[in-house]
Amino acid sequence: MKLVAGPASTYLAEKIADKTGLEIIKLEHKIFPDGESYLRFPEEIEGEDLVVIQGTHPPQDRHLIQAYLIAETALDLGAGSVTLVSPYLAYARQDKRFRPGEPISILSVLKLLNSAGYGKIYTVNIHSPWIAEKSPMPLIDLHAEKALADYLKELKREYSHVVSVGKKGEKMAGMVADELGADYLAAKSSRDRVTGKVSVELEASRGLGKVLIVDDIISTGGTMVKVIKAVRKLGAEEVDVACIHGLMAGNAVEKIISAGAREIISSDTIPSDYSKYSVAGVIAEALMRGK
Ligand code: R5P
Repeated sequence: MKLVAGPASTYLAEKIADKTGLEIIKLEHKIFPDGESYLRFPEEIEGEDLVVIQGTHPPQDRHLIQAYLIAETALDLGAGSVTLVSPYLAYARQDKRFRPGEPISILSVLKLLNSAGYGKIYTVNIHSPWIAEKSPMPLIDLHAEKALADYLKELKREYSHVVSVGKKGEKMAGMVADELGADYLAAKSSRDRVTGKVSVELEASRGLGKVLIVDDIISTGGTMVKVIKAVRKLGAEEVDVACIHGLMAGNAVEKIISAGAREIISSDTIPSDYSKYSVAGVIAEALMRGK
């Protein structure tokens, strides 16, 4: 088994190689002046079982076509098999037909990747875990909340409360609260599918102290801003926010800081200045287990 560092995730492929001791193939890569991707395997790969590390975070469509080109080319050059590790899986939030006429985008993406030749896909904290049952290839959803909790424990962070966002975030934030020995609170959130407007409800029976808000994704920051305001209204003295996937679209960071957050903590599924803990260990363990 060899790792292939896709252009989107070379940094992560290197960390996984360090942890697993697996050999890493670094693709030659450039972007043509018109925006198209050029890729080349710099060595023979005939008969090799390849694990391609290629996130499909923004620019999603470019990263997806690169993932497609890598698998098709690898198999055409005689690779034995190709597995994809896409720590952030693009389009996972469009997991159903919310309004008539819409695509179920995540299923289309999974079909596309499978048609490229991927026989298996690993991802981290997928927004819609139930999609695994409908995936045309085995989809393994790894979890990074323990890595987040371990990072915070190492820093000896203490919080009075850990707050989850929305129904799907409850298990994840609950686990972080348990690990940190903090109380746990659930904020209810809902999004208007036409306007995109997010509403948040949060009730607490007593005052909040130092609070950590945990969500799976921060994209525009709109949801997080609402939760920050809600916890501050309930008296929170200090607020940190954490997520697995920090997309940080547009001025998300500025909005979150202006709303009163002290620190933004994200994993490195999507590289940014806020990538403070790594999912490399979780991925490395899963790859070695599934070998
Ligand atoms: C929603 O279900 C997710 O858990 C996140 O709360 C949401 O995707 C965040 O998006 P935004 O940052 O744009 O509000």
